[in-house]
Amino acid sequence: MKNSKQTVLITGGGSGIGLAIAKKFLENDNTVIITGRNLSKLEEVKTDLPQINIFQSDVTKDEDVKSLVNQLEKEFGGIDVLVNNAGIMNLLDTGNESNDLKKQFDEIEINYNSPIRMLHYFLPQLKKSKNAVLVNVSSGLAYVPFAQSPVYSGTKVAVHFWTQAIRPQLKPHNIKVIELLPPVVDTHLAEEADLTDDSLKPMPTEKLAAIFWKKYSEGKEEITPGISKYLKLGSRLAPKLAFNQLNKEPIPKK
Ligand SMILES: NC(=O)c1ccc[n+]([C@@H]2O[C@H](COP(=O)([O-])OP(=O)(O)OC[C@H]3O[C@@H](n4cnc5c(N)ncnc54)[C@H](OP(=O)(O)O)[C@@H]3O)[C@@H](O)[C@H]2O)c1
Repeated sequence: MKNSKQTVLITGGGSGIGLAIAKKFLENDNTVIITGRNLSKLEEVKTDLPQINIFQSDVTKDEDVKSLVNQLEKEFGGIDVLVNNAGIMNLLDTGNESNDLKKQFDEIEINYNSPIRMLHYFLPQLKKSKNAVLVNVSSGLAYVPFAQSPVYSGTKVAVHFWTQAIRPQLKPHNIKVIELLPPVVDTHLAEEADLTDDSLKPMPTEKLAAIFWKKYSEGKEEITPGISKYLKLGSRLAPKLAFNQLNKEPIPKK
């Protein structure tokens, strides 16, 4: 699997998992572009990593994504690798009628509709590349849902199924499709979750990125670091047990 001298776009690459993966691509002689909504966050990253390219771009906005496609075509002649990483997780008690419905739909828009949008608009550039790769970042929760974040769990299983379905469709176009299903990782997103089980101790982002890099370089299609591989196994062998183990506290405290 070619893992150097490629042009790589990582959505939500200004923090957490996306940034850790961006560093791996940079260390291995790739041109790396990261996006996010918050420009000052991206500028801070650029101060630490001057060789990185930053673009303020919201994955939920068609006009932002179309403009990014044009800018990257002009400045880099297109991309070879698209990493759909941007995502959010809301904790939610569905039994509470005062929940914000828009917030729940926004979560679907960012986590599920946007990877579809990104691929749609970047498809011509990926088709042009000799070594095109699509990486979708879903979650170990695609195997076993986490009750405290019900909409999030739904979006991640949707990304998981979508990824599996498009893999054979993109094969004739020489676009390799890889899915990263992270366990709990030590990022802003995971901070708020009320995780009681010791086995759910967050993995450091550097460790996650190192596992990703090794498996990516080997061309592995489904990358399941840490607890994710056990969630996969548990979901097949004893789904109820796996669900109960993960969901001792189904209602978020906050
Ligand atoms: N941490 C975990 O335990 C864990 C486990 C499994 C899967 N994941 C997945 O890993 C991915 C990365 O999450 P993370 O844990 O690294 O969290 P994070 O540090 O909060 O990173 C998420 C990134 O997404 C960006 N983002 C959010 N909405 C966006 C939008 N509309 N347009 C563009 N960028 C947007 C954020 O930047 P701005 O706010 O500046 O836009 C942020 O940089 C997500 O898909 C998440 O679901 C995380």
